[in-house]
Amino acid sequence: AQIKEVEFVKSSSRPKDCPKDDRPEFAILGRSNVGKSSLINALVRKKEVALTSKKPGKTQLINHFLVNKSWYIVDLPGYGFAKAPESARMDWSAFTKGYFLNRATLVAVLLLIDASVPPQKIDLDCANWLGRNNIPMTFVFTKCDKMKGGKGKRPDENIKNFQVMMGQNYGKHPPWIMTSSVTGLGRDELLLHMSQLRNY
Ligand code: GTP
Ligand code: MG
Repeated sequence: AQIKEVEFVKSSSRPKDCPKDDRPEFAILGRSNVGKSSLINALVRKKEVALTSKKPGKTQLINHFLVNKSWYIVDLPGYGFAKAPESARMDWSAFTKGYFLNRATLVAVLLLIDASVPPQKIDLDCANWLGRNNIPMTFVFTKCDKMKGGKGKRPDENIKNFQVMMGQNYGKHPPWIMTSSVTGLGRDELLLHMSQLRNY
């Protein structure tokens, strides 16, 4: 399950510009600033494969990275951030329709959820949308190194609450993994999980 090599392939502003080969891919989705680009860097053990920033809205294109010449990891713009420049902002409804519903090579969406804050409506809405549309997803909880989140909540409590709120909609929970891009928590587990999904 190890990553030997990763290469940036291209940035696309529209789903139809994405690579057209049949290699399997995983999309990294989540709120702005949740740690999508950081997770990709932690997975591939490189600092600046995917560009990160303290300011939300850093990633504004669909970025394809080819791993071991055999599968893609895709860095997407975060949702829930209205302050990106108008010219750079994505049309989210067109995006969701065009990419998630039509991307035949999409193995699963890794939905990143910030474990250092209580459950956010926008994340629950997103998970429910993916679920309704039968798009396979894995919950990847980020920033689990932050022992104290907002309002004195701890990551394990936030995660439990998120699962409970999801459980009100679905009897069955998607797989989920706790991660930290700072400590490397969950890295190997996530790589193994993705290799298992690819081989189905
Ligand atoms: P957009 O591209 O704007 O959607 O953001 P993003 O989801 O790609 O987030 P990014 O990886 O740029 O990280 C945002 C901020 O969170 C940065 O300041 C990171 O250093 C920080 N961060 C990301 N992952 C972690 C983590 O696991 N732990 C901690 N403590 N901070 C993190
Ligand atoms: Mg990013």
